[in-house]
Amino acid sequence: MDLENSSWLSFNTQGELELAAVRMISNYANKSIAEKGQFSIVLAGGSTPENVYKLLAKQNFDWKNWVIYYGDERCLSINDKARNSSMAESLWLSKVNIPTDQIFTIPAEIGNEKGSIEYEKFLDNNKVFDLVLLGLGEDGHIASIFPNQSYDDSRQAISVVNAPKMPKNRISLTPSRLSNTENIMFLVVGQNKAEAVGKWRSKENIPACYVSAKKELSVLHFDVN
Ligand code: 6PG
Repeated sequence: MDLENSSWLSFNTQGELELAAVRMISNYANKSIAEKGQFSIVLAGGSTPENVYKLLAKQNFDWKNWVIYYGDERCLSINDKARNSSMAESLWLSKVNIPTDQIFTIPAEIGNEKGSIEYEKFLDNNKVFDLVLLGLGEDGHIASIFPNQSYDDSRQAISVVNAPKMPKNRISLTPSRLSNTENIMFLVVGQNKAEAVGKWRSKENIPACYVSAKKELSVLHFDVN
């Protein structure tokens, strides 16, 4: 991804970043629903999106036309609180009326390879996402695509068995599948991401550089500095 062709939005507080994220997500959703009657969004895991999901739970959006996917999932039991789906469900999805058959949770509880194959069947039904949300790892990883790890980018979803971020076993969408989207929004918060941000902006080879969007790629960034 060439950062020159994307927008880097810096904020003075985490709260301002989160409110801007909700406003932008609302705009993407309204546009997609007006144009084609639905809005497909890929959720980010980790802790950064938590407050954005809490704010989304308070909105009165046209939820019946939202379709939810996940960018990655940790291979844990379905109710394990450390799952990305558990976080999104508890903070947001359980509080709004998105039809349950429009929420595509990654079946990571059935194992890496089997779960990735099963999830690709869901992904076959959505050729281009409307919005992909991504966090940024301290090492520059996105979803469960970590630096210096090989993966089959011809697939849509893959098994990850030696993730440096626990748990080791995960399922992830590939950079190529994450790039089959109209828009991407990165949420990057905290001084602990400064090294990864520096590598990214100096075009070093980190996974954050592996994705691009057909229309807009935005990076919403807050660093205490
Ligand atoms: C995960 C996420 C991962 C996350 C980054 C940033 O399973 O942990 O998919 O890619 O987005 O590691 O995590 P934080 O938002 O917690 O810093």
